[in-house]
Amino acid sequence: MTSIRGRRSPGRMPLIAAATGGTPSRRPVWFMRQAGRSLPEYREIRAGRGMLESCFDPELVAEITMQPVRRHDTDAAILFSDIVVPLRAAGIDLDIVAGTGPVIASPIRTARDVASIPRLDPASVGAVTAAIGMILGELADEKSLIGFAGAPFTLASYLIEGGPSRTYEHTKAMMLAEPELWHSLMGRLTDITIAFLRAQLDAGVDAVQLFDSWAGTLSKAAYEEFVAPHSSRVMAEVAEYGVPRIHFGVGTGEILGSMTDVGADVIGVDWRIPLDEAAARVGHRVAVQGNLDPTVLLAGDDAVLEREIDRVVAAGRRAVDAGAPGHIFNLGHGVLPNTDAGVVTRAVELIHSL
Ligand code: CP3
Repeated sequence: MTSIRGRRSPGRMPLIAAATGGTPSRRPVWFMRQAGRSLPEYREIRAGRGMLESCFDPELVAEITMQPVRRHDTDAAILFSDIVVPLRAAGIDLDIVAGTGPVIASPIRTARDVASIPRLDPASVGAVTAAIGMILGELADEKSLIGFAGAPFTLASYLIEGGPSRTYEHTKAMMLAEPELWHSLMGRLTDITIAFLRAQLDAGVDAVQLFDSWAGTLSKAAYEEFVAPHSSRVMAEVAEYGVPRIHFGVGTGEILGSMTDVGADVIGVDWRIPLDEAAARVGHRVAVQGNLDPTVLLAGDDAVLEREIDRVVAAGRRAVDAGAPGHIFNLGHGVLPNTDAGVVTRAVELIHSL
């Protein structure tokens, strides 16, 4: 595999080796939300600056992306951004409210609302691609830079509900009662997601993760009919870059096979099922990523930390022994803001030492 930029060698990166059935030089680990409020240096640099504003400041994006890599020695950096950044860049009026998440000024509910969703001009995410260039200049050659985007379903859920939701009632109502409108909305979001990922890939990211964080709210039948065709198009449109495509959602144990079928190279797993069970569910076709419960890092007890990390490592080993191409250690979801940064560093050391 050759990198677009030609300078970095993906074959020497533990994360890429694990994703592609190679032999990693050490067990690769990174954490979703590794950049963020668990880090004092993050809280300091973000003080008085809005989240979205920060995502469009290349120096700040590069600095925040590198903070957890410097502190914890993780095997990957994940671009500091947010799933709603391309929506904002395309001109949709929304904000990220601290403690809440994305909030949409006018929820998308009608045919007219859907028709108003613009395309993404790659130039409008120039701050993101500039940040990627800076990060690649600093990141050690054996560490991977992961780009990402929200999957069309998870983006649609925010746009339709107007913000975070527990029931996804407006989203599911549109899906079921107005399937044509639904597919038209999903088509537009798919175009935005593809454009955002391609911009990051053109700038040189080493892997991409598609976050369908809330897809676990759907039945398998609903996922396959209303979501999979669109996520498949995303995966197909970035396949030519030849970089690993990671696919992640929370509570997706029952749809892991379908989420793999859309064209993933690595399947992200939350803490609800063991990794060897997850690998079996996807027929050992792809590498697995996960799946320590993020609250383990809050337990404040070294023996518990060791035991729970051991449990994940052992299940990852069984998955690989049974035929999965590899295991990338991660949490089952993001680092919780109250997590002690020292515990995260200790966890990375343990994972590397086992
Ligand atoms: O993982 C990383 O370190 C990279 C950065 C990242 C952020 N958002 C930064 C962020 C990534 C990968 C995301 C993706 C994202 N954003 C997802 C998918 C991942 C997941 O968690 O399932 C989702 C669903 C969102 C939407 C969103 N944005 C939520 C739910 C929140 C949290 C709200 C809150 O304040 O608790 C955000 C805001 C956000 N995105 C923060 C960060 C660091 C917190 C903002 C802050 O620090 O003020």
